[in-house]
Amino acid sequence: MARIVPAIDALEEAAERLGRGEVVALPTETVYGLAGDATDGEAVARIFATKGRPSFNPLIVHVDGMAMAQSLARFDPISLDLASRFWPGPLTLVLPLAEGSPVHPLVSAGLQTVALRMPHGFAAALITRLGRPIAAPSANSSGRLTPTTAAAVEVDLGARIGLIVDGGQAPVGVESTILKVEGGRVRLLRPGGLSAEVIEVALGRKVEREAHQGIEAPGMMLSHYAPGAAVRLNATEIRDGEALLAFGPSRATGADKAVAMLNLSERGDTIEAAANLFSHMAALDRSGVATIAVEPVPMHGLGEAVNDRLMRAAAPRDAGALAP
Ligand code: TXA
Ligand code: MG
Repeated sequence: MARIVPAIDALEEAAERLGRGEVVALPTETVYGLAGDATDGEAVARIFATKGRPSFNPLIVHVDGMAMAQSLARFDPISLDLASRFWPGPLTLVLPLAEGSPVHPLVSAGLQTVALRMPHGFAAALITRLGRPIAAPSANSSGRLTPTTAAAVEVDLGARIGLIVDGGQAPVGVESTILKVEGGRVRLLRPGGLSAEVIEVALGRKVEREAHQGIEAPGMMLSHYAPGAAVRLNATEIRDGEALLAFGPSRATGADKAVAMLNLSERGDTIEAAANLFSHMAALDRSGVATIAVEPVPMHGLGEAVNDRLMRAAAPRDAGALAP
């Protein structure tokens, strides 16, 4: 059974466990991560095993600063600009591996690139304490909801890991935005906690969305983030027996007969909606309903990431095996 330890008391123990090749669940500003030493192949394998994740799915490597980042990967000028503006924060950059990069090849699933992110807070302090980068996917078993609290990690993985570091509710609530710069083009591999609009304004250039992300963002298997209940999107009327995941101040027709209801953001704010998304879905799921109806969420700001996760939660559950 996992020990749950508040972040202020956990630095020593977490570093010691990671140093022994164990995996540890920890808070980041985006979501909770399942961390292992990114230079230790057995620790990385343990991450995959703990999640039950297909091993072709590469992991994000977390660093504590630019010195560590540049020892792992090569930065083109645009990526360097992005890092200097948005790190630490909810942005991941896919970059070519540096010569002699100590990141274990299993992390990148054999690709010649590595996905890097510099987090805030406890995770950054832990990396500094360990002196090595940590690989950390979201701390859920494969295909299940992404956890934004220590309690959610405990329910899913508590029996399989030794330590969960509790840093309270993850403030951003959805995973980092993943970008890849290639030949001067900035490609959005995954919408996330930093909105594409904000990036476009900062860079003064377009971020290219891709309809089909293929193996380059294999974490984006279609049926992902699945609660136990079925998910019905863009609901404008509520059917008998459904739970309602609401958005904004006005309700869908028949909302009063919903078995349970939670609002992603009463005031219609996509940032607040992202922060609440996974914990609200998990809470409605616990009510035991067969279907969660979801009101429409606009695409602006973090709405793009929220809709992306909702679409995956609603996808047929066998689609994960079929999607690239
Ligand atoms: O916010 C986050 O990013 C969280 C926290 C814990 O940091 N982490 C996270 O990691 O979401 P994970 O492993 O669940 O997502 C990794 C994503 C996948 O979509 C994967 O395909 C992509 O990163 N990725 C990793 N390495 C890649 C690479 N070399 N090329 C393209 N995509 C890559
Ligand atoms: Mg995940």
